[in-house]
Amino acid sequence: MHLAELEGLLGKDRVYQDPDLVQSYSNDWTSRYKGFAPAIVFPQSTIEVSKVLSWCSMNRVAVVTQGGNTGMVGGSVPLNGELIISMKRMNNLSISNTNKNHIQAEAGATISEIQNLASSHNLVYGVDFGARDSATIGGTIATNAGGLNVLRYGTTRNQIVSVEAVTGAGRIVGNLNGLEKDNTGYHFPSLLCGSEGTLAIVTQAKLRLWPKPEERVTLLFGLNTVREALEITEACIKSNGNISACELFFQKGLDLIKEVYSLHPLWEDKHSTYLLCEFAGPGGITDELLDGEIGRVLQSQESVLVATNHNDSQRLWQYRELHTLAISSKGIPLKLDVTLPLQNLEYFLNKIERKCQEINPACSPYIFGHSADGNMHLNILYSEPTVKKMEEKVLEFVVSLEGSISAEHGIGRAKAPYLHLQRNEAEIELFREIKKAFDPKAILNPNVIISSDN
Ligand code: FAD
Ligand code: MLT
Ligand code: ZN
Repeated sequence: MHLAELEGLLGKDRVYQDPDLVQSYSNDWTSRYKGFAPAIVFPQSTIEVSKVLSWCSMNRVAVVTQGGNTGMVGGSVPLNGELIISMKRMNNLSISNTNKNHIQAEAGATISEIQNLASSHNLVYGVDFGARDSATIGGTIATNAGGLNVLRYGTTRNQIVSVEAVTGAGRIVGNLNGLEKDNTGYHFPSLLCGSEGTLAIVTQAKLRLWPKPEERVTLLFGLNTVREALEITEACIKSNGNISACELFFQKGLDLIKEVYSLHPLWEDKHSTYLLCEFAGPGGITDELLDGEIGRVLQSQESVLVATNHNDSQRLWQYRELHTLAISSKGIPLKLDVTLPLQNLEYFLNKIERKCQEINPACSPYIFGHSADGNMHLNILYSEPTVKKMEEKVLEFVVSLEGSISAEHGIGRAKAPYLHLQRNEAEIELFREIKKAFDPKAILNPNVIISSDN
């Protein structure tokens, strides 16, 4: 690969070939995907991204775009010598001057940087999850990231007002006009959100912000059945609209977190099922809650912890947020991220562990997730050597219950072999044609979403 030409195009300090540095960018967060690359390019502007992609397109150099490299489906690392394009150095942020409730962000800005700037203007960004300090705007747009507050603010798709991007042919498309109403042809923000770097590199976006709630109350319920948890989830969904998170987890995950992080047990571990609910809104919501449906639920429960300040709330949240890290400290889990229609969620949750153990008695499944979205994370440790069979059977089971094989992490390379379970022939053919239009030389993220054999 004639990298000297790239250095000539961008300057020496944009192209890195140091083997240790390149290797550190070539392994994904889950450690399941370990690749190799000739170099990393760090563009600092949309024009530079356009120059790099025009050069790569002309020289048929395959690339993988990387934001925070926290992706869970093998889409952010080079597996066959692709050039890494890291967006990290494009991280400028500004509150829009045309609409005070918009923020303009370059792709490499992290979620927490966006949240901090929004908060200083008494606003909040609608997407939040455990990887907030590393996950970037470009990556979360590419994967249409969900997270903890989808039931209140929607997924990333619902935050984007305008987007600017560079196609595989090096063409700059989109705009940052920030117009909430701009019906002028195909909507690039919708098309590129969830495209996982296969159609274009997102370089900037204009995102909507929401009023910062004055009051927040966090409830942690200790329960004994999935049914109880889902009944409270329904009550939260029906409550007065101040619900902002509803997270389900179980004793097994809690035991692991207590072991790995030496946390205190909850209610001497006499429960099996836990539901963390958070409400946020104008001052006085706590009293309003206690007077309504949630108040009746609280009356009927014996084990509930209530937090009304930030520190107490964080103490409750760690029992949920530490799942991913605790499980990954024990090995490389098979990570499944599925959605079930709420009416089928109880059946799924009551069956899935046995289903996994029938395939491999030695495996150790952990289940947790965003219960109001029907989005469960199934992290299965010790599933070798039956990983493929486990993946296939679980995803087939999910589809048989009218669910989705990928709720929020995307398809990447991990789920590409199973895309046919969810999308029909005509759709996958159309995906190929859309890809050809945006990336005619097929240099962007090879084998992500559309693998050579699907
Ligand atoms: P990367 O991992 O760098 O890339 C992800 C994909 O986007 C790749 O295909 C990459 O090629 C592409 N990409 C990156 N930048 C661009 C760009 N500028 N233009 C085009 N394509 C690009 N995800 C959720 O949805 N919800 C959660 O609750 C959640 N919780 C998590 C908790 C932890 C502890 C961790 C480690 C991850 C979690 N994730 C979650 C997964 C991950 O953070 C998201 O998928 C996130 O969107 C990835 O952002 P990133 O910047 O790290 O992207
Ligand atoms: C989360 O919600 O914590 C992540 O999306 C789950 C995961 O890491 O599998
Ligand atoms: Zn999640």
